[in-house]
Amino acid sequence: MALGFAGEVADYYHRYRRGYPPEAIDAVAGAFGLTADDTAVDLGCGTGQLALPLAARLRAVVGVDPEPDMLAHARRAAAEQGLSNLTWVIGTDADVPALRALLGDGSVGAVTIGQALHWMRYDELFHALFPLVRPGGGVAVLANGTPLWLQDADWSRALRECLEQWFGTRVGNACGTDEESLRRYRDSLVAAGFRGDVHGVDYTGTLDVESIVGGVLSALPEDRLPASAERARFTGLIRRAVEPHAPFAEHVHVSVLTGRR
Ligand SMILES: C[S@@+](CC[C@H](N)C(=O)[O-])C[C@H]1O[C@@H](n2cnc3c(N)ncnc32)[C@H](O)[C@@H]1O
Repeated sequence: MALGFAGEVADYYHRYRRGYPPEAIDAVAGAFGLTADDTAVDLGCGTGQLALPLAARLRAVVGVDPEPDMLAHARRAAAEQGLSNLTWVIGTDADVPALRALLGDGSVGAVTIGQALHWMRYDELFHALFPLVRPGGGVAVLANGTPLWLQDADWSRALRECLEQWFGTRVGNACGTDEESLRRYRDSLVAAGFRGDVHGVDYTGTLDVESIVGGVLSALPEDRLPASAERARFTGLIRRAVEPHAPFAEHVHVSVLTGRR
């Protein structure tokens, strides 16, 4: 299955994608009363942005992702952090029935899905997850801020213009981070029997040109990544577009939608 997260995209994702602030992990743990006896499944775990900090406070975490290159980075990062309680599984949201058979119903404290639900059939998924989680546990859907090119800042508008010129198309996709998606996901969780609550964590960070360029490269599907001969021209254009707008403040809103069983 070619989803666009292989090869260099996985490398860029691992290197440049921002992690979650500890308060976001606290919000998940608080909503489900997670303790060191609990296990979690992180679906669409990517290079481990959620799976690793969860594993540091739980008994065990299963990270599930269809892209082996993403999992390879996650596995290496876990080893570098001395975490030995993670299991990495190649799979998708469609594999939840097999996970239920393996782990047992009512066995999991939390299923987390960070920046990945827009790839999944979430109505079916939430119904399938309900029996897997223990009473009081639940499903958490996290969105880690607004894409770099959709922020309300001059540097972001300049970036958007630059990307639209390069690709010859509008770049409006918020990848499930917008209010409308959040409402749809919440309604869907409630329809599956969960109690839905929305938590938010806000902070302001400062980016540098390198992290803006890397962040863009990490967000492009593999087939849209400019070929190596063109890459320097592409990144040069981004640099030149944003540089006049330094410093690059970024207001990050992390939304944590929890569905408690
Ligand atoms: C944008 S990354 C998110 C990574 C990480 N969870 C985070 O919060 O930064 C999206 C991940 O979802 C994975 N993915 C795509 N479709 C999926 C599916 N149907 N089921 C599970 N994971 C999927 C991709 O391979 C990719 O690693």
